[in-house]
Amino acid sequence: MKILGIESSCDETGIAIYDEQSGLIADALYSQIELHKEYGGVVPELASRDHIRKTLPMIQQLMSESQLSPTDLSGIAYTAGPGLVGALMVGASIAKSLALAWDLPTVGVHHMEGHLLAPMLSADKPSYPFIALLVSGGHTQLLSCERYGVYEILGESVDDAAGEAFDKVAKMLGLDYPGGPEVARLAESGTPNAYRFPRPMTDRPGFNFSFSGLKTFTKTTIASIDNPSDQDKANIALAFETAVVDTIRIKCKRAIEHTGFKSLVIAGGVSANTSLRTSLEDLASNMNTKVYFPELQLCTDNGAMIAYAGLQRLKHGHTEDWAISVRPRWPMTELENAQ
Ligand code: KG4
Ligand code: ZN
Repeated sequence: MKILGIESSCDETGIAIYDEQSGLIADALYSQIELHKEYGGVVPELASRDHIRKTLPMIQQLMSESQLSPTDLSGIAYTAGPGLVGALMVGASIAKSLALAWDLPTVGVHHMEGHLLAPMLSADKPSYPFIALLVSGGHTQLLSCERYGVYEILGESVDDAAGEAFDKVAKMLGLDYPGGPEVARLAESGTPNAYRFPRPMTDRPGFNFSFSGLKTFTKTTIASIDNPSDQDKANIALAFETAVVDTIRIKCKRAIEHTGFKSLVIAGGVSANTSLRTSLEDLASNMNTKVYFPELQLCTDNGAMIAYAGLQRLKHGHTEDWAISVRPRWPMTELENAQ
């Protein structure tokens, strides 16, 4: 069973073909970073226009490179939400039009379920049950995953997502978009403990996060320094990154203790962060637990995770009708139980 996956929820056009037997057989990614850079963030209208330019030629190229014809496919998966409405509409429209022409079923995939299942594309994959930490530009969530499709939210951010906080702090430090990798790079030359930033919401029980106060604390710290030097900025980047990583680590530790699960899955763009990966590896080994990350190129948005998640949905009998509809806001708790 082979499935074509289309990701277009934000600023990456991701196309992939996943085969149930042999795994990922083709994968292409086009990043719009250069397009949005001069605006310091994603411009939704430009994102949609670029997806519409890139999607079909990328699908055509991938199909011909992998020497596949439409009759080799069993379905087409696309990101149905959450994300930018116009960008999602592009993926949904193209997926449904091709499916109509090629006589195939379509599957609308929840973007965060795609991220959540991305570690399943690795050779060493987690088995259920596991705890999942989803950390992206729009979400920060800790989930308990009993089995495929059954996700309970243990906690989530009450304000900014972790990636969003990274992006905003990057702007404050005069760094380029997307900010997460830039802050991480700058933090590498920071002096440890030059500053100590708060670890929000760790002094009270529960699994929720809040990164808005930490963002304001960072802003105030920058404003308190006359003409911050490059070293000051690096020290601040490191203090911020360390605070985010420590906060996440504390909540993951609680989730492991609470559920008793022995596997921890980390996914979403921020899971590419080296300090976070190192800290959570360390936590897991101290708690006799195993941590699973997607391969680095599958941490941020990509078509492979949508193809994989779509195949699981298709196998469980989920298909869409022909109406083109997307869900820009779509809580994971509203996902139909796939069992
Ligand atoms: O999952 P993703 O590609 O898109 C969304 O679904 O949001 O995540 C993008 C987010 C951005 O906020 C970006 O700054 C952050 O992930 N990010 C990172 C790193 N790489 C990407 N944050 C911290 N460190 C990184 N190395
Ligand atoms: Zn994403």
